[in-house]
Amino acid sequence: MADGYEFVVVANRLPVDRTVGDDGEQHWTRSPGGLVSALEPIVRSSGGAWVGWTGAPDDDTGPQEVDGIELRPVPLSAEDVDRYYEGQSNSTIWPLFHDLVEPPVHRRPWRQAYDSVNRRFAEATAEVAAHGATVWVHDYQLLLVPAMLRALRPDLRIGFFLHIPFPPVELFMQLPRRAELLRGLLGADLVGFQRPHAAQNFLQLAAGLLGLEPDDDRVAYEGRTVVAQAFPISIDVAETDRLAADPDVQREADRLRAELGGDRRLLLGVDRLDYTKGIEQRVEAFGELLAEGVVSNDEVVLVQVATPSRMRVAQYQQLRERVEREVGRINGEFGAVGRVPVHYLFQSRSPAELVALYLATDVMLVTPLRDGMNLVAKEFVAARRDEQGALVLSEFTGAAAELDDAFVVNPHDVEDLKRAIVAALDAPPDDRAVRMRRMRARVQAHDVDHWAREFLAALA
Ligand code: G6P
Repeated sequence: MADGYEFVVVANRLPVDRTVGDDGEQHWTRSPGGLVSALEPIVRSSGGAWVGWTGAPDDDTGPQEVDGIELRPVPLSAEDVDRYYEGQSNSTIWPLFHDLVEPPVHRRPWRQAYDSVNRRFAEATAEVAAHGATVWVHDYQLLLVPAMLRALRPDLRIGFFLHIPFPPVELFMQLPRRAELLRGLLGADLVGFQRPHAAQNFLQLAAGLLGLEPDDDRVAYEGRTVVAQAFPISIDVAETDRLAADPDVQREADRLRAELGGDRRLLLGVDRLDYTKGIEQRVEAFGELLAEGVVSNDEVVLVQVATPSRMRVAQYQQLRERVEREVGRINGEFGAVGRVPVHYLFQSRSPAELVALYLATDVMLVTPLRDGMNLVAKEFVAARRDEQGALVLSEFTGAAAELDDAFVVNPHDVEDLKRAIVAALDAPPDDRAVRMRRMRARVQAHDVDHWAREFLAALA
């Protein structure tokens, strides 16, 4: 397109990953994570372009249209993947922004690669955006892009949205070259966060680090005004509801229940295998409930879907080993032939398969140690048209601010986790229904379309 696109989304990942099958044919599969599931429907309906990586190293796939979205791939070499993606993005910024749940690692070559990859994303975007276009940059992998893009294309309207938490000033200050990262974000006209507290952290940082003078939710910077506000992200409620109403999905839910033992109550966890998600603490709490005889293998079963993620990063490999050892220990100690207490699936599941699991569930466990929002909690609620099922939800998720009718828990405290699981299992059906009805009303009133419209209206 010679004149460029009026609307461009920029994110580390394209909405689809490219893989090449044994037959040599290329296949596109949906990319993991909440960012993609939230944005994909919006870009599809707006006819915009999406600038991002195909998920494979050394991939020179050119521009193309897949499922109605114009993809503009930014190639990453194996070294870029190692330093920019696995290094600076996922071993430095990710753990630091999640309250140091794991210690961040700082390496100079990673920072250099982060810089040069961010520059390439900015250049690719500058090439496809029409004059005066709206560009929406996403997440912690691309913190420098807004300022780089503004330098190349001052005509653009630039929005940035951070999908993960924004840390308190004293944590951000640990980052080498922290002022540069902050200036990167200040290149945007509007910086969006999941929670008001994160926007405040950002403005305080601008004051503390650069001596700027924030006024309410905005700050003057280099002759412009930068606005920082919260826009809590959500899900495609209609799509989840459609799946939940599908007779095939409902049959699959019935089959799963029968397969797991129709008389047992089902606890469910669905997460990327990430140390922020609190999977270890959750499994430990369940193991203790079994050991204390509060629940038994005949009455209760836990299904934990752990989607493989960032598996070349050492901290993720170590987490996998610890979780698998603990699951093995619990099953060895409390299982019987043909009946184990923990079903652990280190696999991805399609949206339809996940909704079938949600429908089969008695108690959904969403217990991250820290999470920007957590869309699994919202999907579970949106799927429960029967107004049954209970949600145990960590107070350290963005979702907890909206879903306060859940069984809210401090996941760092194993006793509190056990208490919440038992309370959710024991809650009378009408109590569960009241809670679910309120949570469903909230999610239905604020779906992902509402989120995007609010952000884009504020940007315009
Ligand atoms: C989170 C992040 C996204 C990321 C996703 C999947 O949702 O906020 O930016 O894309 O995880 O992680 P991955 O590293 O596989 O892209």
